Amino acid sequence: MPRLALISNLGGCGRTSLVAHLASAFVERGRQVLAVEFDPANVLGLHLGLERSPEAGWVSPLLAGEAWTEAGLQNSEQIAFLPFGRLGGADLAALETALAQDEGWLARHLSDVPELDNALVLLDAPPLPSAFARQTLAAADFILVVLEADGRSLAQLPALETWLATLAPDQPYAVLVNRLDSSLPLERDFLAVLQYRLGHRCLPYPVHRDEAVRLSFACFVSLFEAHPQSQALHDLVGVAGWLEGQAALAGASRVTP
Ligand SMILES: Nc1ncnc2c1ncn2[C@@H]1O[C@H](COP(=O)(O)OP(=O)(O)O)[C@@H](O)[C@H]1O
Ligand SMILES: [Mg+2]
Repeated sequence: MPRLALISNLGGCGRTSLVAHLASAFVERGRQVLAVEFDPANVLGLHLGLERSPEAGWVSPLLAGEAWTEAGLQNSEQIAFLPFGRLGGADLAALETALAQDEGWLARHLSDVPELDNALVLLDAPPLPSAFARQTLAAADFILVVLEADGRSLAQLPALETWLATLAPDQPYAVLVNRLDSSLPLERDFLAVLQYRLGHRCLPYPVHRDEAVRLSFACFVSLFEAHPQSQALHDLVGVAGWLEGQAALAGASRVTP
């Protein structure tokens, strides 16, 4: 099962939205998908049609040595997903400590997920430098870094580059700019600077700022069902097609650390 991790060192740049909508786009393209939430925020389910965050998730039973793969859910679009679930403060602190000492924790446990034929695993995590995000970096076959065309992304670019420099030399990654308002000259300028700084790593297809993304989240409906003509959906379908062409996402998973 090839694994795609969406990561960023910025909060709120759209990782979880993109995991949910890219999952829809891959399903539309005939791919089996498993979206895995590795974020105590426990909101991925809301982006996939649940009306409230689920109590039960996969992490709590896993820590208790119970049957955690049974926490998997499937939405009306046939997207299989593992919500993080609710985790108490003490358990969360213990997990964070364990993760900091064992870089391959997530990768190993993902290897135990029952085979979903050729399913593509999409990983959602909090921003770097969280231990959760570092785990998804280690578990990923391909990393999609999410930025925005603004001063915050540019200011944080050196810190991001420091993270990217820690990746294995053969680790493929690309940078996606989300929530671009191309009617604003300042955003077009920031996009140009990011593209210049990141070179071929920066995807030529940004995802535009589109109210349809926020509406579909607010109404618990899929972008495909509710806003099939939206600009963001058009962009996301293009990004999914590009990702499908990446060798790392077509083949076998990386060796588990
Ligand atoms: N392309 C977009 N256009 C408009 N709003 C977006 C877009 N992408 C994300 N959003 C909105 O931005 C907010 C933060 O997105 P979210 O996915 O929760 O970010 P993160 O997971 O990075 O913290 C949400 O309200 C979401 O609906
Ligand atoms: Mg998120």
